[in-house]
Amino acid sequence: MKTSHRIVGLVIASAALATGAYCADGSTNWTDQCAKCHGADGKGETKMGRKLGILDLTDAKVQASFTDEDIVKAIKEGKKDKEGKLAMKAIEGLSDDDMKALVPVVRALKK
Ligand code: HEC
Repeated sequence: MKTSHRIVGLVIASAALATGAYCADGSTNWTDQCAKCHGADGKGETKMGRKLGILDLTDAKVQASFTDEDIVKAIKEGKKDKEGKLAMKAIEGLSDDDMKALVPVVRALKK
């Protein structure tokens, strides 16, 4: 029951994504929650981004270094830097759907 519900949800979500209906949410959350570190364009050329040595999310190599699941995981659990220090805190207040809606937003940063 639960699984089939999730699949239905995913199908609806992907259909909505294809038509762009969900993008507004994702982009709003990106601007509100992510851009202060990653920059609106994803290059990470912000004060915080430079301090944290942030990755350039417009770089195809960087985009290839993580999976869609990793994106959700980074938002949900945060992300440690090379020295094992917590660099990106888990982002609070986003639902699972909000996190999933951010995946295509992150992917769209790729140049
Ligand atoms: C406090 C600053 C900060 C905020 C806010 C932030 N991030 Fe990050 N994020 C980072 C840093 C720093 C890294 C890189 C860590 C490293 O060196 O691998 C990172 C890494 C990532 C990665 C790469 C994950 C991986 O597995 O390599 C993704 C994707 C990402 N962030 C997406 C997001 C999204 C989406 C949001 C908003 C919901 C967000 N970030 C908010 C600082 C931030």
